[in-house]
Amino acid sequence: MKDKIRSLLKERQAILLAHNYQPPEIQDVADLCGDSLELSIKASQTDADVIVFCGVHFMAETASIMSPEKTVLLPRMDAGCPMADMVTPEALSRKLKQLPPMPVVTYVNSTAAVKALSTICCTSANVVRVVNSLDADEVLMVPDKNLAKYAALHTKKRLHFWDGYCPVHDMLTPETVLLAKEKYPNAVFMAHPECRPEVLELADVVLSTSGMIRYAGESESKSFIVGTETGILHPMKKTNPAKTFYPVSPDMECSDMKKISLEDVLRSLENMEGEVKVPENIRLPAKEAVRKMIALSLK
Ligand code: 13P
Ligand code: SF4
Repeated sequence: MKDKIRSLLKERQAILLAHNYQPPEIQDVADLCGDSLELSIKASQTDADVIVFCGVHFMAETASIMSPEKTVLLPRMDAGCPMADMVTPEALSRKLKQLPPMPVVTYVNSTAAVKALSTICCTSANVVRVVNSLDADEVLMVPDKNLAKYAALHTKKRLHFWDGYCPVHDMLTPETVLLAKEKYPNAVFMAHPECRPEVLELADVVLSTSGMIRYAGESESKSFIVGTETGILHPMKKTNPAKTFYPVSPDMECSDMKKISLEDVLRSLENMEGEVKVPENIRLPAKEAVRKMIALSLK
């Protein structure tokens, strides 16, 4: 199956991008695995004709926003992100009318239509930098309240929060973290900024998914408690075979991130099925928000 996929990718001049949470067999056949920022940069820079995106819908949409001349395929159209669906362009427009004028920082985990109403996008890897880059005292953060509360600890600006959250990260409680710390007292606790503030308070480091993989490699510590979606354990162990990783909770699994199978990838490539496209009136303003974020991150 993997050989068939690799040879079809070559035939179609295609590149396969996979998020760090994808199933191991998908990550192992991919050209590049990464966090949301790395994948959006790669999608905007590749010279491939086709991008097969193994992740969730907003990620494929971002690739298509940045590279409309390419065919972007999402092997399972029903792989969505519940957090991205917690804000609609209509609700955001209503909120903007209630607030004094201020920039909107939108997490990439959002629909293209919401990005189109935003000043700039951010990911978990660059949220603080993005917020601090703005020439404004007040900022509206959409849709993740936990990410916004994390950013608020690292800025002097007044941040307004949207009431969205990632169900996978928001379920993690301090009690669960304390149990894991008791069980593995020498392990470093790494947490993703989509976790609640009371969980982040217990963290030794707060990082994006790729940030965690890099940190584990550079750290002198030999063991780590991992506070994010369990799919990340595969690339972590692969990159750091001499170290030990414990999921803070085996329940932190995103069912959307686990939808795509090798069969889906093969079918999608064979039939060029599952194309993601964004209408130009939405794509152009959305592209501006993503472009500004990428430019800032590459500085
Ligand atoms: P990052 O890989 O950018 O840290 O994002 C985590 C996530 O929840 C993606 O859906
Ligand atoms: Fe969305 Fe959370 Fe799943 Fe990421 S882990 S795709 S933010 S629900």
